[in-house]
Order: sequence, then structure tokens, then C-alpha cells
Amino acid sequence: MKIIIDSPEKIAAIAAERYVTLLNKKPNAVLGLATGSTPLGLYAKLAELYNEKKISFDKVTSFNLDEYVGLDGNHDQSYRYFMNTNLFDKVNIRKNATFVPSGLGDVDANAKNYEEMIAAAGGIDLQLLGLGQNGHIGFNEPGTPLDSLTHKIELTANTREANARFFASLSDVPTHAISMGIKTVMNAKSIILIALGENKADAVAKSVNGKIDTMVPASVLQLHPDVTFYLDEAAASKL
Ligand code: GLP
Repeated sequence: MKIIIDSPEKIAAIAAERYVTLLNKKPNAVLGLATGSTPLGLYAKLAELYNEKKISFDKVTSFNLDEYVGLDGNHDQSYRYFMNTNLFDKVNIRKNATFVPSGLGDVDANAKNYEEMIAAAGGIDLQLLGLGQNGHIGFNEPGTPLDSLTHKIELTANTREANARFFASLSDVPTHAISMGIKTVMNAKSIILIALGENKADAVAKSVNGKIDTMVPASVLQLHPDVTFYLDEAAASKL
């Protein structure tokens, strides 16, 4: 596991360079993407690099980590909407090659189908992750089995409260989500995790230095051969 500590602005720039390098080498790479406030700096940087013609997404396929159950892609808190507005609409990615798991209809069937689509695309080359305050990755809450594939999950009170700031009230936050599983994430060839801010410091310390424990889902990343944590000073303060 590699760890890079810098300012949030530099982290966004250094992480963006990973994409430039990857897409130069493999223009049709499969990207695993994430939502949340953490990747916003990176996505802004990628859009900037695209405008400067330093990166092209025209042959890229992408798979997002997760989505709320019950929100359609036009809902402004859906992760599909987030991805469209913060990245996909700003670069030359083919919209029909961007996938976000669907939390509508038969979610279990959607989950199975999602795994098949990832496999058919050749697997994920570079998976981006944020980090929940309780150590979750995607929406894999503490206790999620290591061999989990894409599945429906019940959100913890902690996660719903942390995400309530984006909704009108806590009761509007969906109770369930569909998320790539721990195994789906671990199957990616390379992994980038970005964590910013003091409120991530405990989860970062447990993930990096703690024992590998399903109660801290990100600690499992210690077992992956190619994972880099990009942290600001505050998130790294308990290492
Ligand atoms: C949500 C997402 C995660 C994300 C986490 C942290 O729970 N499902 O993928 O990592 O929030 O969000 P933020 O980056 O806003 O702190």
C-alpha cells in the first residue's frame, strides 16, 4: 500500500495524473468511479485536463461503485445525476459506456447483471474510492463479507446521517443502496483511495495500520497488490 500526503489541491492534481498515464497507455481502459464530495476536486481536474486536450475519454468504459435504492437517474441526489453533472457532461466519455448500478426494479437482478457487465468489459483497470467515516468503501458497511459481489445493502444510521446534508431531511435519505461488493473492488487491477479532512482520520488510521477486519471494510485494501491512499494532512493526522 502506497500513501501520498499533500494538500487537497495537489492530491486532485496527482491523482488526475494517474488517469493521464493510464489513458495514454490504454485509451480503452475501464474505470471504476466513485461519488461523494471527496472526488469532486479530481473530477474538476480531469475536466480541466480534457479542455486542455491532455486527456481523452472517448474509448473509456466506466462503472460506478454504488447507487441509492429508489432514486432514478434524474433525482438530484442520485449518483447517476452526480456523475453526469460532475464528470460525464464535462468530458468526451460515451454516455452509453458509463454504468451506474440501478436501484430501481429488481435490485438483486440488477446486481447480478452489473457483475456480468464488469466481467464482459474485461474487469476494472483503476478503481477510485472515497472512504466513509466508519471505514466503508462504496456502500460496503462494516460487516460486509470479503467475498461480496455487487449487492443490495441496508445503510447504517451513521451513513444515513453523514449523507443527510445532501437531502431535505434525514427521513428523505434512502434506507438501502446497491453497491459493488468488497470482492468486486478487490478484483480491480489498481485502486486509488482519496480521503480528505479530520473526520476521516480515524477510518484512515484503522484502514492503514489496523488489523484486517470486516468491521473496517477499507482495511481489506491492505491485501491488494496495487493500492494508493491519497490523503491530506488532516486525514493523515492519526497515522
Ligand atoms: C458515500 C458513498 C461513498 C463515499 C462516502 C464518503 O457513502 N457511497 O462511496 O466514499 O459517501 O463521502 P464523502 O466523500 O462525501 O465524504
